This record gives sequence, C-alpha cells and structure tokens, in this order.
Amino acid sequence: MQIDILTIFPEMFEGPFNQSIVEKAQKAGIVRIRIHDLRNFTEDRHRTVDDTPYGGGGGMVFRPEPLARALQSLISAEGPHRTIFLTPEGRPLTQRLTNHLSLEPHLILLCGHYRGIDERIRTLYVNEEVSIGDYVLSGGELPAMVLVDAIVRLLPGAIGNFESAQSDSFQEDLLDCPWYTRPRVFEGMPVPDVLVNGNHREIARWRRRQAILRTAERRPELLDREALSEMETEIPEARAITPEAPR
Ligand code: ADE
Repeated sequence: MQIDILTIFPEMFEGPFNQSIVEKAQKAGIVRIRIHDLRNFTEDRHRTVDDTPYGGGGGMVFRPEPLARALQSLISAEGPHRTIFLTPEGRPLTQRLTNHLSLEPHLILLCGHYRGIDERIRTLYVNEEVSIGDYVLSGGELPAMVLVDAIVRLLPGAIGNFESAQSDSFQEDLLDCPWYTRPRVFEGMPVPDVLVNGNHREIARWRRRQAILRTAERRPELLDREALSEMETEIPEARAITPEAPR
C-alpha cells in the first residue's frame, strides 16, 4: 500500500511513524508512507498556503492552487487512488471504514488547518471526508496519524500474528475481553480459573461472554441482538442492558 500525506507540518509525523508497527511495516515494504510539505507547492516568496475567507468571518482558508498542484503531482504519478480529507465534518472513523480503506492500493491524506480548505478542492479532488470524533483538533495531522495507524496494523504481515488484529475490539462490533498475564495472583486478585485450566473451548466461550458483557455495559448500542447466537442472548446480564434490535 502507498500512503501520501499532504501537510504544512511534516515534522509532526516523524515520531509516530518511526516507532512500533508502522515503522516495522514500512521497513518490511508492506506500506510506503511519504510526507509532503504543502509549502513546497507554493510559488510565492513567502510560501503562502492560506488566505482570508471571502465574505469575512475571521480565520484563514487554504488556497486551492498549492493543494491542486500537490494533488495533481501525487495523482498523476501513481495509478488508482483515494483522496481523503481529515475534517470534523467527515464520516466518523469506525473499524468498518478502516477495514475498507485498508484494501485500497493508494491513499492520499489531506491535512487541513485554520478554517479549512477552499471548498473547490473538496469538490474536485476529495473522494472521502473522515472525522476521528466529535471534537475539533487544531489540524488534520493527528487524525491522519490515527487513520494510518488503524489501517497499517490491518495489512497482512504488519502484525506478527495476523489473528490478533482480526480479534481486536470492534472487528465484530464487540469490545475486547479482559486479558491477564503472570503473576497468577496480583494484589490478592487471582486470574480467573478458566484461563489456566487449559480447556481452549471453555476459554473461547469465556472470552466471548466477557466481550459481550463488557459491550452491553459500556456500549450497548453496538450490540446487535439479532446477530448474537441463541447461547449468547441467554446471558441475562447482557440481555437486561442491551436494547431490542429495531424492527
Ligand atoms: N481536524 C480537526 N479536527 C478533526 C477531527 N475531529 N477529525 C478529523 N479531522 C479533524
């Protein structure tokens, strides 16, 4: 996969992309990430990327020309692509959307600032607008990092054991179950017996049950009662909390 990121703060990406899974995936050739400084696509002496909005209202708006120049250079150089603008007005980022985007061969991520970018760039170049939550950050860089991290860990080979990404929270619209490691007793709290009895069927059942209970308690809106098996809808604690599926 190829990911191009267009930003006025390229240095922000150095730490997060040079650590952990994203770094390993780049070194392994699973993903190629390139950061582009939008100012390199300006043509004036001051390398101006923004201007005041027509109609007033304060703040600044990214001018369309440097963005168009940058996008055209990225688009013409690579084959099929998807251009994503990170904005609080975008579609909420979910695991489903992340899974979907992880199948794309080439993503171009556009990081805005100030009041945003000239609307004509959205119309002409942007295929998808994505928000990482209902709050406003000072720019699209942190959201772009979040999106890249969420996507890269899904790419085959990025995580040693691919199954561990497949069993993440949200892969089945369920939160994750509790996990334990040594010591067997910590601060007087023992690890649940089921996890040390070596019965893998029972362990799998226990984990699924815990995931359902945790989801019912914390995020009941995620639980689709119709999708749960008969055994699982028999979990009375979860049934009490989970809303009826809409008819
Ligand atoms: N830019 C600023 N805030 C944002 C958010 N919540 N999601 C995506 N991009 C943003």
